[in-house]
Amino acid sequence: MAKPPLSMKPTGWFQVAWSADIKPGDVRRMTYFDREMVGWRTASGEAVVMDAYCEHLGAHLGYGGHVEGEVIECPFHGWQWNKDGRNVCIPYQDRPNRGRRIRSYPVAERNESIYIWHDVDGREPYFDAPDVFAGFGDGSSAADYYPPMTLHRERLELHPQYVLENGVDFAHFKFVHKTPIVPVFTRHDFTGPWSYVDFTITFEGDDTQSIEDVRSGVEAINGGLGIAVTKSWGMVDNRTISAITPVDDRTSDVRFMVYIGRSPGRDDQRAEAKAADFGAEVIRQFTQDVHIWSHQRYSDPPALATAEYEGFTALRKWAAQFYPDGRGGNAAAHARSEKDVDLEFSRPTTKSEKGRAE
Ligand code: FES
Ligand SMILES: [Fe+2]
Repeated sequence: MAKPPLSMKPTGWFQVAWSADIKPGDVRRMTYFDREMVGWRTASGEAVVMDAYCEHLGAHLGYGGHVEGEVIECPFHGWQWNKDGRNVCIPYQDRPNRGRRIRSYPVAERNESIYIWHDVDGREPYFDAPDVFAGFGDGSSAADYYPPMTLHRERLELHPQYVLENGVDFAHFKFVHKTPIVPVFTRHDFTGPWSYVDFTITFEGDDTQSIEDVRSGVEAINGGLGIAVTKSWGMVDNRTISAITPVDDRTSDVRFMVYIGRSPGRDDQRAEAKAADFGAEVIRQFTQDVHIWSHQRYSDPPALATAEYEGFTALRKWAAQFYPDGRGGNAAAHARSEKDVDLEFSRPTTKSEKGRAE
C-alpha cells in the first residue's frame, strides 16, 4: 500500500479501452485520473471519451445515456451532446445551450486501442501516441503478425513510471524472468517527449561473444509515460504495447499486447500454435514484472549500482516533464539537480562493464 510520491495526473496519451470494447452505439463507463468518464462510439464509427456528467442537472451518461447517430443523449431530460461535448439539442426548447460544454478528451485510435490525451491544464496534444508498427519506420504492419494477445489488469497499486523504468533495468532479467539475458544498451535518447531505449541481447556466460556477433535486440519507444511500444528483432520477432493509465491517486490499469511475427510461407496451424505459445510466454514474463511493480514502493533516491546510474537518472529526468509540477515528486527533482548526464552512447558498453557493480 505505497502511495507513489509521483503525480498520478501526468500529461500524455493513455489507453482507456481496446477498440473492440466500444462498438458503434455503445456507451461505456470508465474512471481515469480520478474522473468519471464515458467512452462511446458514434454511428459513423468515431470513438469519443468525455466526462460522465451531463451539464444540465448532472445525470451520469453512463447509466442510460444512449447514442443517437453522432450524439449522445442524456437519459434524464433528453439533452443531446456531440463528440466535442457541445450541447446540440434541448428537446423542449428551440435552441441548444451553447455556453455549457462537457469536457471531452482528444482521442487517438490505433493498434486496436483507444487512447486519450490527458493534461490537467487542458493543453492540446503536443506529441503523438506511438504506433507499434509505424513508430519503428520499418514498413511493417499488423498483417506481418498474428492478431495480438492481450492482458488487462485493473486497479493495481502502481505508477506508470515504474513500467518505463523497467526499460533501463538491465539487472532484473535474471532475477525476475529467470532468463540469463544481459542486455547491452545501444541507444538511450531522452531528448523529446518520445524517448528511445535500444539494446542488444547477449547471454550470461558467453564471454567470447563480441558486439558484432549479436543477433537479437529490442527497440523501445516510450510515448510519454502512458504508452511504451517495443520491437524485438533477430531470433525472436514480436511487438509489444504496454499501456498504463492512472485510475485514481493510488492505482492504475495495466494493458499489454503482444504481436508475434508470422514466418513467411509458414502459415499452417502448427506455426500458429507455436506463435500462441510464444505470445503466452511473453505475457507470462510481463506478469512477472507486474507482480513486482504492484507491490513496489518508489525508491527515492534509489541506491543504484554504478552501471545503473546513467539509465535510471536519464529516465527519471525525462519523466519529470510530464508531471503537472514539472517535478513529479522529489525523485525527479533529485535527478534534475544532478549534473547533466551524457545521453550519447559513443560506443556500446561491454557486458563485463555492465556486470560490474562497484
Ligand atoms: S441531466 Fe441530462 S438532460 Fe437533464
Ligand atoms: Fe521485465
